[in-house]
Amino acid sequence: MTTPSMEPVRLGVIGLGMAGAVMVYAASLHAGIKLVAAADPQPAPRDAFIRDFGGAAHADARQVCERPDIEAVYIATPHQFHREHAILAANCGKHIIVEKPLALTLEDCDAIIEAVDRNRVHLVVGHTHGFDPAVRRMRALIQSGEVGELGLVAMWNYTNFIYRPRRPEELDTARGGGILFNQIPHQIDTIRVLGGDIASVRGYARQLDPTRPTEGLASALIQLKSGAAASLVYSGYDHFDGDEFHHWIAESGAPKAADQHGAAFRALAARTADETELRVKSFALGARPYTSPRHQPHFGAMLVICAKADLRASRDGVLVYDGNGAREIPLETRVGVPGRNEVMDDLVAAVRAGVAPLQDARWGKATLAAALALQKSAETKREVEIA
Ligand SMILES: NC(=O)c1ccc[n+]([C@@H]2O[C@H](COP(=O)([O-])OP(=O)(O)OC[C@H]3O[C@@H](n4cnc5c(N)ncnc54)[C@H](O)[C@@H]3O)[C@@H](O)[C@H]2O)c1
Repeated sequence: MTTPSMEPVRLGVIGLGMAGAVMVYAASLHAGIKLVAAADPQPAPRDAFIRDFGGAAHADARQVCERPDIEAVYIATPHQFHREHAILAANCGKHIIVEKPLALTLEDCDAIIEAVDRNRVHLVVGHTHGFDPAVRRMRALIQSGEVGELGLVAMWNYTNFIYRPRRPEELDTARGGGILFNQIPHQIDTIRVLGGDIASVRGYARQLDPTRPTEGLASALIQLKSGAAASLVYSGYDHFDGDEFHHWIAESGAPKAADQHGAAFRALAARTADETELRVKSFALGARPYTSPRHQPHFGAMLVICAKADLRASRDGVLVYDGNGAREIPLETRVGVPGRNEVMDDLVAAVRAGVAPLQDARWGKATLAAALALQKSAETKREVEIA
């Protein structure tokens, strides 16, 4: 995406936890990005940032946003801080990448949109699996007309989400916990990248473990404005492992052993340490080796049914099934972290060439609106239309 004449975009990072750790490593390998500084209240990831990436590290987000040598900020703090940090960055004149979900309420999304518009900065909501190269390739196939009209996007994902070490708010739906705010946005974004705007949602969501009192199971039938539809299933209870449906490749694209069913559940039962502390020790920047995955990332099994062909991601490409049989379109292998590369491509294109990102702040608000519609539909047992 970058040309040799382009200066890299000078990036600051706010939040060096699980999401921040992956993006910082990806940013360090992206030719269009120069990592300059980071902020996190925790000293351990700050030290890792200085040691492993050579930038400056601060305790306070404002210290990053106010630096004159930074053009853009990546925000990977817990959801409840996204509004505050996005508005702070925009008011400092910085372009923004903010992790999903954009915010926790539609009002918070509106406040971010207002700040971004007023300060004339670009905002990309990412990463989600809607940025995966396989999803982008499928979108291109659909938009080219080659595979005919989109009929249905069918998605299934089964993970250990509920039993990973969690901050207290991650187990409290009212504060953005559970799969509706954390995992369903990946599926909704993917559906929207492939099929466009959502008209209505008929959703179902359940809490199946009272010791982890937030939604870990959901399903929905999503009607798209185009006339196509999508059906999604997500379970985070660590029983069946959905990676079995994806060639035993993990979500990140790393090969995965087939014998880990229930491992997160058992580890939780054996745990004595505070989960928030354990989260920093296990996932924050510097806690795990930095790796680029061998294969393409994914978010569970997905079959995209079109008038002339069905599409499915393979380990390294996109499979096309049609009247002539099956064929595989390989995806480009690139330095860096697939999925995150594309988030940064969009930031660089916005900052350097003025290309408005698809997944901008209004996009993020629409994804949250669909997740909230799923939640409301599950409560009312009725279809919820989206304006
Ligand atoms: N795209 C993905 O695949 C993905 C994966 C995980 C998390 N996320 C998103 O990233 C965000 C963070 O989640 P996480 O799992 O990394 O959480 P985490 O708890 O692992 O990390 C959050 C980090 O933010 C830091 N932090 C808290 N308050 C801060 C502040 N005021 N200023 C600066 N830093 C602060 C914490 O110390 C911690 O290091 C969430 O919105 C989540 O949805 C996205």
